[in-house]
Amino acid sequence: MSRKRPLDSTGEADGQDGLHDPEYVAGLFDRMASTYGVLNYITSFGFSERWRKQCIRAIPMDHSSHRLSLVMDLMSGMGEAWPSLQSLSIDKLLAVDLSPGMCEKARRNQSKYSINIQVAQGDALGNELPRGQADLVICCFGLKTLSDGQRRTLTKKVFDYLKPGGQFSFVEISSASEWWLGSLYRFYLKKIIPVLGRLFGGDPTAYGMLGIYTVAFGNCKDFAGQLQEAGMDAEYKELFFGCASIVSGSKPHGQIRV
Ligand SMILES: C[S@@+](CC[C@H](N)C(=O)[O-])C[C@H]1O[C@@H](n2cnc3c(N)ncnc32)[C@H](O)[C@@H]1O
Repeated sequence: MSRKRPLDSTGEADGQDGLHDPEYVAGLFDRMASTYGVLNYITSFGFSERWRKQCIRAIPMDHSSHRLSLVMDLMSGMGEAWPSLQSLSIDKLLAVDLSPGMCEKARRNQSKYSINIQVAQGDALGNELPRGQADLVICCFGLKTLSDGQRRTLTKKVFDYLKPGGQFSFVEISSASEWWLGSLYRFYLKKIIPVLGRLFGGDPTAYGMLGIYTVAFGNCKDFAGQLQEAGMDAEYKELFFGCASIVSGSKPHGQIRV
């Protein structure tokens, strides 16, 4: 799959501003691929795993009775969300990630799961993913490295990927809502995580960027509004005093994209 991406309909930033350029983002995660799994767990004190589970639990479906023919895991990393998906009945899981390093790790992890998984290296906003076939689209911690314009494009893509009635759930690290916790959390993300990155043999500059993206992102509230504008039902929820946020919902039956 190519990383080239067309301009969105609004002509807004298409990632060509450096920080959101797909080549740059892929390179950043390539540099983190060897340490991301362990560091993500340690630096979040295990919260990242809990938040992924909450992201899956937020899906408004009856988990036990639904058979899902296609689930798309966008910005899948090395498959960190897959343990939380194991309880669902899935015919095929399509995992999409820009970073060759993350995809390589994901392919190595894939045999640990009883799910039929295809890992595709490519852009979640590209034009090569199946349209109108997904029962479920999930994305854990992939929103922050997108520009606002790219996130708007993503809402249209999610609409296109889903079947009518299909559901989605996104979770992202967010700026905490309490001011004292927010300041502490920002300090931790920007200053402490790069140090921990270095201590655990990772690239401190790359880990420092995660804090910069998170602070600029804010939370999933605007994205929830953009999903609604794209024609979907979307519900916003904050986790642990706003340190993470979720938006989940569905594409209505018989809806045509506006
Ligand atoms: C913070 S990691 C999250 C990985 C994993 N989903 C998790 O739960 O930890 C973000 C991932 O999104 C990928 N990514 C960023 N922008 C992307 C895009 N436009 N298309 C596909 N993958 C993208 C990066 O390569 C990276 O692996």
